[in-house]
Amino acid sequence: MDQYYVMGNPVEHSRSPWIHARFAALTGHTLQYGKRLAPLDGFARTVADMRAEGCLGCNVTVPFKFEAFQLAQVQTPRARLAGASNLLHFRPDGIHADNTDGVGLVNDICGNAGVALAGRDVLLLGAGGAAAGVLGPLIEAKVGHITVANRTLDKARSLVVSHAALALQHGVTLESAALATVQRPYDVVVNATASSLSGADVPVSPQVLKPGALALDMMYGPAAAGFMDWARTHGAVPRDGLGMLVEQAAEAFAQWRGVRPPSPQVLAELRATLG
Ligand code: ATR
Repeated sequence: MDQYYVMGNPVEHSRSPWIHARFAALTGHTLQYGKRLAPLDGFARTVADMRAEGCLGCNVTVPFKFEAFQLAQVQTPRARLAGASNLLHFRPDGIHADNTDGVGLVNDICGNAGVALAGRDVLLLGAGGAAAGVLGPLIEAKVGHITVANRTLDKARSLVVSHAALALQHGVTLESAALATVQRPYDVVVNATASSLSGADVPVSPQVLKPGALALDMMYGPAAAGFMDWARTHGAVPRDGLGMLVEQAAEAFAQWRGVRPPSPQVLAELRATLG
């Protein structure tokens, strides 16, 4: 049977096997999708093992997205822009790396949340791997403007420099800022920082939220709760990262299986399962 995995460390918490099992059932595909724990110093070895076993591809999660990108022989332009990969295809000519996190975010915002991105003013909080993965697709969605705001300004600057040509091509204005200096209101605020993981407060002024703005945290469950409460309290529409998770998986499934799964249905089922 066709075999796929999600690999990470830790990986036990991953919802990806459940999501892909539902995609397979709803599209009539027969496949196996499992969890694969890779030792922190054993990513390449684990990939080699999977290929030797005949596995067709895998999703990659923390902390291996950068290593996955570097291991691949072929990289899509969006993976190159992110410098990271969450999706590997094992093909006869080698390992191909893609990054579907950004398209997952854009499809969740435009499709599931019903918020049009074209021409909108977007604030992206953070400049680490999570932010790098979504900046390119946000630009390609032809938003009007993006401010990349980070605690460490230099990292935001680097992201803006590496995406400047793409932004120019799509007519999007792009700027970097230190988190503490961002005060004006935005239509859409995306939290790609890891601040909530350490229990820190939302690292930006609530003035960044226009009334009714979409405020999306790329995490879900308890990790997203603080940001979502903050957004709700300040008049924004909160959203967690569960839809992004399902949509990045849908893009992977579509590439692997040649059919687009009914992701809104699977997102609704997942929310019901998680209560
Ligand atoms: P990931 O792959 O999840 O993006 P990362 O590459 O380590 O992880 O990036 C973490 C991001 O969260 C960074 O933008 C980091 O800011 P710095 O670049 O200044 O380190 C941000 N971050 C983490 N904790 C934070 C906090 N308490 N307040 C604000 N930003 C924080």
